[in-house]
Amino acid sequence: MTIECLNECKWVLHTQKTTYAFGLGVDEMLTHLYWGPRLSFSSDIPEPLRTFHASFNNMQDMANLEYPSQSGMAYHEVCLKARLHDGGRDVILNFDSYSIGDVEIREEKCPKLTMILKDPHYSLTVHLHYIVYEKYDLIERYSEIINTGSELIQLDQAFSAAFYVPEGFPYRLTTISGGWAAEYTLNQEMLVPGKKVIESRRGATSHNSHPWFALDRGNSQESSGDVWFGVLKWSGNWKMSFEHTPRNQIRILVGLNNYDFTWGLLPKNPLITPSVILGITSQGFGQASRNLHHFQEDLILPKKHNKKLRKILYNSWEATYFDVNLENQTSLAEKAASIGVELFVMDDGWFGQRNTDMAGLGDWYVNTQKFPEGLDPLINKVNELGMDFGLWVEPEMVNPDSDLYRAHPEWVFQFPNREITRARHQLNLNLAKPEVKDFVFHMVDDLLNKYNIKFIKWDWNKSISEPGWPDVPKEHQQEVMVHYIKNLYDIFSKLRASHPNVVFETCSGGGGRIDMGILSFTDQAWISDNTNPYDRLFIQEGYSHIYCPKSMVCWVTDAGDDNLFSLKYRFYSSMMGTLGIGANLNNYTEKQLKIAKKHIKRYKEIRPLIQEGEMYRLLSPRAGNLSAVQYMNVEKTEGVVFIFLQSSKFPENRFRLIFQGLNPESQYKISKISQKLSGRLLMSLGALITLDGHFKSELLKVTQIE
Ligand code: GLA
Repeated sequence: MTIECLNECKWVLHTQKTTYAFGLGVDEMLTHLYWGPRLSFSSDIPEPLRTFHASFNNMQDMANLEYPSQSGMAYHEVCLKARLHDGGRDVILNFDSYSIGDVEIREEKCPKLTMILKDPHYSLTVHLHYIVYEKYDLIERYSEIINTGSELIQLDQAFSAAFYVPEGFPYRLTTISGGWAAEYTLNQEMLVPGKKVIESRRGATSHNSHPWFALDRGNSQESSGDVWFGVLKWSGNWKMSFEHTPRNQIRILVGLNNYDFTWGLLPKNPLITPSVILGITSQGFGQASRNLHHFQEDLILPKKHNKKLRKILYNSWEATYFDVNLENQTSLAEKAASIGVELFVMDDGWFGQRNTDMAGLGDWYVNTQKFPEGLDPLINKVNELGMDFGLWVEPEMVNPDSDLYRAHPEWVFQFPNREITRARHQLNLNLAKPEVKDFVFHMVDDLLNKYNIKFIKWDWNKSISEPGWPDVPKEHQQEVMVHYIKNLYDIFSKLRASHPNVVFETCSGGGGRIDMGILSFTDQAWISDNTNPYDRLFIQEGYSHIYCPKSMVCWVTDAGDDNLFSLKYRFYSSMMGTLGIGANLNNYTEKQLKIAKKHIKRYKEIRPLIQEGEMYRLLSPRAGNLSAVQYMNVEKTEGVVFIFLQSSKFPENRFRLIFQGLNPESQYKISKISQKLSGRLLMSLGALITLDGHFKSELLKVTQIE
């Protein structure tokens, strides 16, 4: 049984290896009881706390509510804050009823529990939804907030969920922060009493902080120890808070950011919050990542393409920047095809008066100075060369110097009597407006109808500022950031339905808008504008904690010093996800083209292992001079390991590489090692590897011996 109700007062959710439980506590309030490794006996589930001994330790402080609201003596962060029609601001959410059923997700029936909570006086109901993904060891939670009366209710805070880690331990929090060209930095800190908040207020997921967390007891490793983790499926403003409770637990709240947010909850028009995906594993950070990777590959990435291998792409950006034209793109395409590229993507610069970043965004017609006969001659050439054609767009933006802005200055976000802040000389269109939503859909739809385009790179290069939306009544204006993202998702789902064969890539100055939300509409992500192959090891490692290698696009470029980075190093760094080339192939020598061709051929051979196998982080670049990542097929019979050495001293730089994910009882052949070795030895003492020099790399093939 994956969902059980015990004596009509406790509800227990089981995945293969985990258990999550809550029950009725004091005053019929839903109280969190347990989230941890799977329990075999229901008697192991803690009882809800029923008595509180001191007046300063009241019920709201001490009981860990499943969905705390602002009421009574709740002084901590809560999920729901409301202003009621009579001026009251106290919301009581009593348990009312529940239902257990199924929800069909990609032809699989997943068990679903819904708990219904109601205010005893006001017409406010909250449904807490729980979906159990048994084999992935994950649970999805979201909430639905319903106004069942006839008067408007103003919500000032509406999180998706609250949950807790077991009482009685100190906890370490792992988060991801970063910046433009420096995404996905891992941070760890022991949580001390008080509150730690991570969030985005930028209108998108952001480069700076990521809607993912992991908690452990301070000693979990890559392949051992309990790790609790969660990720929010949302591409707009989000918030996560981690707060010590008086019982020395951590209360975790996740959901829409309450910053500059008020939701005018209309009768019979529920607010459905984004989902949070939760998991716990006893096999360390690596298993936490693999659980999320499997889930993402099977149930998040758009279905038509989720099981297909991603194509090796060429992207023109770093080669020609805005200076694209038929001649230089044709020449790049010829070179790309000759080395084995499968998809040629023309980046920024092909439209309007887009000669620099100062003009043209919004004018999505082909620039005829650069392409006198339109895009067809280039697309036909690319197709003749055996490649698909892809195109860059940034549909949610406009340059003030554009025909679109001159025609529709009212389409951008703005407050009365205020200048609008520009960044990269551009402004944000307000996608919450129905006419803007239509424009964006039709613009991309028309391009896809008109040309043989098989791939769209969808960019977003300015955070939202001055988010004024004067068209709607004041009580709805601060909903804008949520409507914006809901409309974006609608556009993507309509485009995907009308153009099922087109592959989409999400991009926002690199990794500014990547999350489980956008990745359920886009197939892959451009994760950073930083293409230095050494820096990339860190960025890619951080990304891999959450998202699968198939969704991670990595280009071989000219960035960084050629004296430091060989083409081999550049390729190995980029082969760890979906391989792309961004180097200026027009400047490559015959010898370089030959080397590139050899690596692309190799990548094609091992691509199924990387894109569809399981990933094991053997050595972190954060830990020292050496880093290594292993990819194995699920049968554990075949795999590859990428090794990177930053620098060495003394001759004969030998080190032990400890493998993971092998069958202990099988023997393996590792390329470059003459002796065959057992899985057990390789996973305990490991194998001795020699690697000398500076910025050196190696690719090992791992094969089980029959
Ligand atoms: C962003 C992207 C780049 C490129 C440029 C084009 O910065 O991340 O890859 O597409 O925009 O202007």
